[in-house]
Amino acid sequence: MGSKYRISVFGLGPVGLATAVCFAKKGLSVVGIDPDKSRLEEIRERRAPYFEPNLDEYLKEVIKNETFMATDDYSTNAQSDFAFITVGTPSNEEGTINLASVKDAARMIGGSLNAAENSQLVVVKSTVTPGTARNTVKPVLEAESGKTAGIDFGLCSNPEFLREGSAVYDAQFPDRIVIGSDDTESIRKLEALYREIHTPTAPPILKTTHENAELIKYANNAFLAMKVSYINCIANIAEHIPYADVRAIAQGIGLDNRIGPQFLNAGLGWGGSCFPKDLNALIAYSKRAGYVPELIEAVVEINRTQARKALEFALDALGSLEKRKAAILGLAFKPYTNDMREAVSIPVINSLLAKGASVTAYDPAAIEDARKVFGNTIGYAKNSFECIEQADCCVIVTEWDEFKRMQPKTFLERMRQPIVIDGRRIYDAAEFLHVGIKFYAIGLGPAK
Ligand code: UGA
Repeated sequence: MGSKYRISVFGLGPVGLATAVCFAKKGLSVVGIDPDKSRLEEIRERRAPYFEPNLDEYLKEVIKNETFMATDDYSTNAQSDFAFITVGTPSNEEGTINLASVKDAARMIGGSLNAAENSQLVVVKSTVTPGTARNTVKPVLEAESGKTAGIDFGLCSNPEFLREGSAVYDAQFPDRIVIGSDDTESIRKLEALYREIHTPTAPPILKTTHENAELIKYANNAFLAMKVSYINCIANIAEHIPYADVRAIAQGIGLDNRIGPQFLNAGLGWGGSCFPKDLNALIAYSKRAGYVPELIEAVVEINRTQARKALEFALDALGSLEKRKAAILGLAFKPYTNDMREAVSIPVINSLLAKGASVTAYDPAAIEDARKVFGNTIGYAKNSFECIEQADCCVIVTEWDEFKRMQPKTFLERMRQPIVIDGRRIYDAAEFLHVGIKFYAIGLGPAK
């Protein structure tokens, strides 16, 4: 399929690269722009710098088809019809959003707008607090180009909802598309682009203001994090009730169409590059705007205390952790990624180390990244069997499929003391208890 559209994507992080490659796979002519030379080198060698299912394969295809190229030369943007900003928006120390990369991207785009052949549409895809497109991006673009938004070029807010580990799928099959702008012509152009990409059936497209589009992204992530903290709160109640099990409770409430079954898996808490940063940014933004968002603060606080559960269970089972070996299965913040950012494994392992335990960990994808976090304060196993060898307790921190397949007898035979703490509810408690394993699980009440 040949397309008339030419696209620039500023920022080839996980979101930008997945977005760029999926546009290119649809036949659009895409240039990815990023100043990071080592990142560019890997991409040009047709290797995705991130562990993301299908990304390598798609990258190879679009480079071969010449629908995608990566460069640090931002002047190439002059040839594009659309300039997407997909740079990261990390947290400052006090939790507020850091817009430095967004401003840099806006400067580069503004600097190339004078040479642009057509009236370009600038699209802010990065997660930014309400008012950023209007009060930060627009003035920078106008100052750099000497042109006027809404007349000489267009500006839209278009948040992304890609999950790590399924970013390529999500980019191709979004639940909905949100477009915010002041001018109807910008909205019409971006809608036309998405209708072409998602032909024949586009998902629902919500057209709204910049500020609504920006807040939708935060409200979305905060709601999902709230669902997880909510079920973790119910799990903590269930642990005090004989014969109660949060899994059955989650199933029961998830069958209510108004609630739905997703994001109700109780565990040691949520992490990653998005929820922690976005909830903190939303809280900081809201307070500055004059409202203390107590509900969202509680969501964060429940999550902070949830990671302590692993230590509490280990202490209950062993009394003291001095000179005990703890095995950790799973380090990444969730399965199918090597991402250690704000991973729950970090507070879990640090709490065990602080109590004198020695820790050996295994993860199918995140060992190298974990080394950067823990260095040689912990041991790294080559596989899950080696990890639990002679351990006094084992904590399941990330629910990788290969851990789900482990049998109770494997733990029984290899561990020094068969104590299993199921921090992600992947095992059938009865099977473990039946063979004499001391079994703890988030949200499982006592069986008496
Ligand atoms: C999240 C959102 O799901 C995406 O829609 C959004 O685009 C992205 O943030 C972003 O802002 O860029 P992601 O961070 O990849 O995506 O991870 P999720 O799959 O949402 O999981 C977040 C955390 O919640 C993980 O630590 C996961 O283990 C935890 N979780 C999730 C639970 O503990 N229980 C659940 O039932 C679901």
